[in-house]
Amino acid sequence: MEDTVRGDGRQGFVGVFDSGVGGVSILQHLVRELPGEDFHYFGDSANAPYGGKTPEEVCALSRTIAERMLSEGAKALVIACNTATSAAAPQLRAAYPDVPIVGVEPALKPAVLAQGRGKVLVMATEVTLTLDKFHRLEHRWAQDAEVETVACVGLVECIERGDLDAPELSELLERLVGRHRGEVDRVVLGCTHYPFVRGQIARVLGDVRFFDGGAGTARQLRRLLERDDILNDGDHVGEVSFASSIDTPDELELYRRFFTLPC
Ligand code: DGL
Repeated sequence: MEDTVRGDGRQGFVGVFDSGVGGVSILQHLVRELPGEDFHYFGDSANAPYGGKTPEEVCALSRTIAERMLSEGAKALVIACNTATSAAAPQLRAAYPDVPIVGVEPALKPAVLAQGRGKVLVMATEVTLTLDKFHRLEHRWAQDAEVETVACVGLVECIERGDLDAPELSELLERLVGRHRGEVDRVVLGCTHYPFVRGQIARVLGDVRFFDGGAGTARQLRRLLERDDILNDGDHVGEVSFASSIDTPDELELYRRFFTLPC
């Protein structure tokens, strides 16, 4: 389902995708960093969550989305999903070597470097925590801090329902991370859905600092667009459009609403 008319930026649009509404948290950073670009966001909500699927399934879904966006004129892609980045980024880069492709990964490095008095808690999907990409990250950075990981099964589904004040959501967070209250002081939001429930997580864990990949992803996209000389840095005012694999006005309304939420 399509929303507004796609922007006609001189050199094509940037395609941004996720399993659902979560990648809108990344989109907010992209638009702030690169206001002259046209962004087209696709949420694969019909297939969410990706986090419980096999890496092969996530890779195949990501490939289909990437192919479609490129055939529609995308000049660059942002995989606004930690799970799809872990499962599909190398394959997509190999398939489209001339296209700038930016992924997102759990912000473990800045969380460890920030130092603190407690442990670092990484919240992410099962797939993200199981695949090599995260193991390499953990191997590199977990030497310098005590790191705990939690596969947050069920959390993406709660957020996709759109009611961020639902008691079920708070109860789920309590079950998922409540046992770490008092022992962690830094939390890595390793799934792009989770920045939307930062406040709810803080209510369970207390005084913690949060780390996510949004700002770094936006800076990396700028670097790649500059490198390839395809950055829209003239007078063009970028446009943002949304589409979803759930073909209803309510779904697009959810994306637009989340686009305005602090995260
Ligand atoms: N938002 C995604 C991520 O960053 C995927 C969540 C899911 O569909 O399980 O991992």
